[in-house]
Amino acid sequence: MPEVTISRRFDFSSSHRYYREEWSEEENTRVFGLCALPNGHGHNYTLEVSVSGEPDPATGMVINLVDLKGAVDGVLINFDHKHLNLDTPYFSERIPTTENLATVLWDEVAAALAARPGIPDGWRLARIRLHETEDLYVEYFGEPA
Ligand code: NI
Repeated sequence: MPEVTISRRFDFSSSHRYYREEWSEEENTRVFGLCALPNGHGHNYTLEVSVSGEPDPATGMVINLVDLKGAVDGVLINFDHKHLNLDTPYFSERIPTTENLATVLWDEVAAALAARPGIPDGWRLARIRLHETEDLYVEYFGEPA
């Protein structure tokens, strides 16, 4: 059977601030510009989650979209309408850039899919694409096996 990749889009909104406590105000502003402003700012993110595998002979599906949506919705509830620096545990050491957020979402989505009961084997998380704006997105394919 051919391997096929299926992707689904999800929308969520979060705010963030780029700032390193150990740097001076001048250094933070030099590196991060407006993103270092003290009260942060928000984005309407679009997340694309791609899963690859051979379509199941009985269902024709790589993964049931009910399972994919359920797993990802369960992750995004922890990010939607949150301040990434203040309201999530992931960015105490890391700057909440789109790059870092994409890797965090990969780990969380992979764990949520793995923990969801009843998903037949044969799928793998293939790609996370995270759009911060219409002009900017980050892709992450996980660590090489
Ligand atoms: Ni931003």
